[in-house]
Amino acid sequence: MPSYDVIILGAGGAGLMCAAIAGQRGRRVLVIDHSEEPGRKIVISGGGRCNFTNLHTAPDRYLSANRHFMKSALGRYTPQDFIALVDRHGIAWHEKTLGQLFCDGSARQIVTMLTDECAAGGVDFALGQPVGDVRHGDGRFTVTVGAAEVRAPRLVIATGGPSIPKLGASDFAYRLARQFGMKVVEPRPALVPLTLGGDDVLFRELSGVSAPVVATCNKAMFAENALFTHRGLSGPAILQVSSYWRNGDPVEIDFLPGPERDVLLSAKRERPRATGRQALGAKLPARLADVLADRLGIAGELGATTDRLLARADETLRRWRFVPNGSEGFAKAEVTVGGVSTADLSSQTLESRTVPGLHVIGEAVDVTGWLGGYNFQWAWASGWAAGMAL
Ligand code: FDA
Repeated sequence: MPSYDVIILGAGGAGLMCAAIAGQRGRRVLVIDHSEEPGRKIVISGGGRCNFTNLHTAPDRYLSANRHFMKSALGRYTPQDFIALVDRHGIAWHEKTLGQLFCDGSARQIVTMLTDECAAGGVDFALGQPVGDVRHGDGRFTVTVGAAEVRAPRLVIATGGPSIPKLGASDFAYRLARQFGMKVVEPRPALVPLTLGGDDVLFRELSGVSAPVVATCNKAMFAENALFTHRGLSGPAILQVSSYWRNGDPVEIDFLPGPERDVLLSAKRERPRATGRQALGAKLPARLADVLADRLGIAGELGATTDRLLARADETLRRWRFVPNGSEGFAKAEVTVGGVSTADLSSQTLESRTVPGLHVIGEAVDVTGWLGGYNFQWAWASGWAAGMAL
């Protein structure tokens, strides 16, 4: 094996960005990945169109034990920087909603762009290669790849988190970090559907129905759609609050978001002959309106329903509270909350404070973004910040 200045473990978004930057800065870079193809999560992301960044990227849209940690990298490599790169490669894109930018064509264009950038930096790849032992001594890292050993004075851990193992995800980053004495903040599945049990299971009959709601969990609040599934709840609003949810925590849903208070009482005054189902049906998808009206005992004529019952129903619909019995876990989670502790890393270079030459970037680090392009922006920014320091 030729000698390298940098070995990068993981050819996802963060590893590819880091490799391209370091390579173009004249470093001899090797990227190792056990998958046969680079950027597998990029390829399937955003429904195949890759939601590659978010115009509203800001530190308060990230979860971490240290809410300041991501500021340096995100401030130095911004969504505009990534957009400029995408534009240079002639990739057409559009804003879908809430600042979320997607490719007009295919997510594969983003992978091709990154591998082209790596090629411009003369980066070598060892794909489809399981990483064996990693050792450190005499200022050099030695990595066993298949039957061979490679050495470099710098090593970058970019193997992501354990979300979606069937796409090649693993907890390798955490094991390696621990081997080098670094702490790992307890990893939890995030941006993940929540599952329901007990009474809430009644919602199952609504599988496939989606409605705009405001979902709240542990003071985090998101106004987006919720989707009923046969196991529980999903959709952007639920995925977002799932990142803040821990076992046993209640989640609250406002089914009647908006400034209008007392929707049912007002409807009774205006249209006393209408039924509760019809009044709710004016605000919600019909199937959902039917189920909620039945469960709240207000399905009949509004004129024949007491004000007290309607007021209570209005209140319940604004604060529908349930305790999920779990989540769909790492098998379905888009990302992982937690990871290699930021306390052990420089926020400027993502280098270990105790093991010189060792960097950790991307999802492996205890930095997790909201849904909507924030996680890729962290992958690019942390990869860039490390790449500039190698
Ligand atoms: P990433 O997981 O991408 O890469 C890690 C690499 O390391 C992989 O190539 C893996 O094969 C390799 N690896 C792992 N273990 C290894 C080992 N033991 N040995 C060797 N190699 C190993 N985000 C966003 O901003 N917009 C979006 O549209 C989406 N959409 C989306 C959809 C789905 C279905 C998922 C699962 C996730 C998203 N995300 C997203 C999240 C986004 O994909 C994620 O945050 C980034 O891919 C993280 O990039 P990393 O490079 O850190 O890890």
